[in-house]
Amino acid sequence: MDFSEKILAWYAENKRELPWRNTRDPYKIWLSEIMLQQTRVAQGLPYYNKFVSEFPSVYDLADATEEKVLKLWQGLGYYSRARNMHGTAKTIVKDYNGDFPKTYKELLRLKGVGDYTASAIASISFDEPEPVVDGNVYRVLARYFGIDLAINSSEGIKHFKDLAREVMHVGDVRDYNQGIMEFGAIQCAPKKPYCLHCPLNESCVALKENRVHELPVKLKKTKIKNRYFNYLVVFDNQSNTLLEQRTGKGIWQNLYQFPLVESETILAKEKLKELATQHLAAKKITGIYLYNDKPIIHKLSHQHLHTNFWIVQFGEEIKDGLPWKEVINFPVPVLIADFIKTFKI
Ligand code: ADE
Repeated sequence: MDFSEKILAWYAENKRELPWRNTRDPYKIWLSEIMLQQTRVAQGLPYYNKFVSEFPSVYDLADATEEKVLKLWQGLGYYSRARNMHGTAKTIVKDYNGDFPKTYKELLRLKGVGDYTASAIASISFDEPEPVVDGNVYRVLARYFGIDLAINSSEGIKHFKDLAREVMHVGDVRDYNQGIMEFGAIQCAPKKPYCLHCPLNESCVALKENRVHELPVKLKKTKIKNRYFNYLVVFDNQSNTLLEQRTGKGIWQNLYQFPLVESETILAKEKLKELATQHLAAKKITGIYLYNDKPIIHKLSHQHLHTNFWIVQFGEEIKDGLPWKEVINFPVPVLIADFIKTFKI
């Protein structure tokens, strides 16, 4: 058996039963592949099930409000993916009569569908021989073939894509592509690969040269940026609060949050009070206290958000205030959802 046949045989024995493995519906394959780009199968599964039950077809997703889509996506991160998906669902309904394009090339034209997603849908739904290259595939190929080109360099990206194409199983690309990803996730795992019982262990270069833990190679990420967030959790004596919607191009676009004061460093209460008064155009702040003992550090891929939640009491009724119990209906970043869960009014 060659490489791809061994992957297929391993997959037939070891694959997990997952709902998107029993379908060829490109809508469902698309949903699952977008979700699995940012989360592991176990964490993505409940999101997938919720989405499919709320939006069984691309028409249902196209008809939904953005707020509902973001709410169901809450916790998955990379919210632009949810917004793009929603936009693309509308495009499919409007411009494609509800039918997904059937080829890699046409799929690539859809917003939010890049090389990976187009290859996944084309191969899994339509048997088109296009290789998928995700993090799992990089790991398997880098180890098995002993390749130390950085997987995030342009040279590496091209090399691995060419290699993936060369070794794929053209006759059963649907299972082969899912098989190599599954193999990477379960057998050739990042930290504790099961080399002892691996069907590829006799010909794996990294194993032979004792380099399994050195591969794949990745160039260092750009520097992490530290940011300082002060959320103003405002209350009047009717238990109304304030939420605002994030706009602009940065993180969490279109999600909701408590009024935010961003600063250059951690703020002491006096300074915060001054800025809160300005930010809220408040006449009467009757009390401010810090909710958390020490700043909560919320880590994103390129930023660490040092966050304080300040409880701000108003002596006057909040104009356009929102009853506290309605806050849970809004899509918010997990950082804020966690606060809402623990906070007792
Ligand atoms: N990771 C992302 N998509 C996958 C799939 N279809 N099968 C296994 N692992 C995956």
